[in-house]
Amino acid sequence: MNVLIIGGAGYIGSHVVREFLDHGHNVTVFDDLSSGLRENLFPEATFFHNTILEYPALLAACRGTSDTNGFDAVVHLAAFKAVGESMLQPEKYSLNNISGTINILNAMADTGIKYMVFSSSAAVFGQPQYIPLDEKHPLDPESYYGFTKLEIERIMGWYDNLKGIRFASLRYFNAAGYDARGRITGLEQNPTNLIPVIMETAVGMRKELTIFGNDYDTRDGTCVRDYIHVNDLSVAHAAALDYICKNNKSLKLNLGSETGATVLEILESARRITGRPIPSIFSGRRSGDPKALTASSKLAWELLGWKAELSDVDTIIRSTWEVYKRKGIKV
Ligand code: UD1
Repeated sequence: MNVLIIGGAGYIGSHVVREFLDHGHNVTVFDDLSSGLRENLFPEATFFHNTILEYPALLAACRGTSDTNGFDAVVHLAAFKAVGESMLQPEKYSLNNISGTINILNAMADTGIKYMVFSSSAAVFGQPQYIPLDEKHPLDPESYYGFTKLEIERIMGWYDNLKGIRFASLRYFNAAGYDARGRITGLEQNPTNLIPVIMETAVGMRKELTIFGNDYDTRDGTCVRDYIHVNDLSVAHAAALDYICKNNKSLKLNLGSETGATVLEILESARRITGRPIPSIFSGRRSGDPKALTASSKLAWELLGWKAELSDVDTIIRSTWEVYKRKGIKV
């Protein structure tokens, strides 16, 4: 298929591009490089450097070239994702995440592209009422970031109804790790997520890791999260696109490993694998952090035959360390 991957130069996007190329798809990447990196691009994929906020450019990209003869599907991963920032600068998230997605859907409707795979998030659920979280769990985001993802899911529902655009909305839990075959090496800039922060500490780019809270009612007092390897996520994107094309039906899926790890368990694995001390301090809780979040991915198994294969903590940490140990700069 001819697939336009928007946000394909980013951390998750580049892994998805690699997976689609490996599947034999013809891939074009569209990215504004605001957080994506040129070094994450593959020569086999055509690249458009532009923003989803520029409607004419987006429309032209969606029309494709005479070579591609238009696109069959869009994979959309172009969003801001810093939960804390979204509470301070909601305007930025409204514009890029919500308006940007509306532009994409309009360009798809204008050019007759019928399928979309969208990066959603476990943040659509808010504080869990029970775990593991399945797709029936109530939707009540705690952050503006989570709200943007939920709002987009609703808008996609309307475009499905009114324009026949079928979508797969994939709610990632905690995306982590790097390509197991070492083909992607771009480091996220100014990361806020736990594992890249740990890695930056391991290579000396940061003095210490601040652990947000050690008084949660969990096995060691720190928060539990469901870390899912980006290679596993990428496989799910390809399978989800196959599903919506074959069944002409949209779907929303929770994607996680179905296991949980605490902050201290992640840190212990990182210290062991890197052999670095990784200094840490405890601080107070971070606002809005649920104590434990794990996914039920039963529906993904039933519909796509998908389950996580590479998402044990040590594989995630080892694949990440392979990249950071080569590229981390001591300051
Ligand atoms: C959040 C979202 C998730 C989203 C992701 C994108 C929620 C519930 N989850 O994940 O859907 O895809 O952001 O960025 O909104 N931690 C520290 N010190 C640090 C960083 C993190 O202790 O310096 C702890 C956090 O308190 C948390 C865990 O590590 O317990 C994971 O945090 P993080 O990597 O930021 O991801 P989430 O907030 O779980």
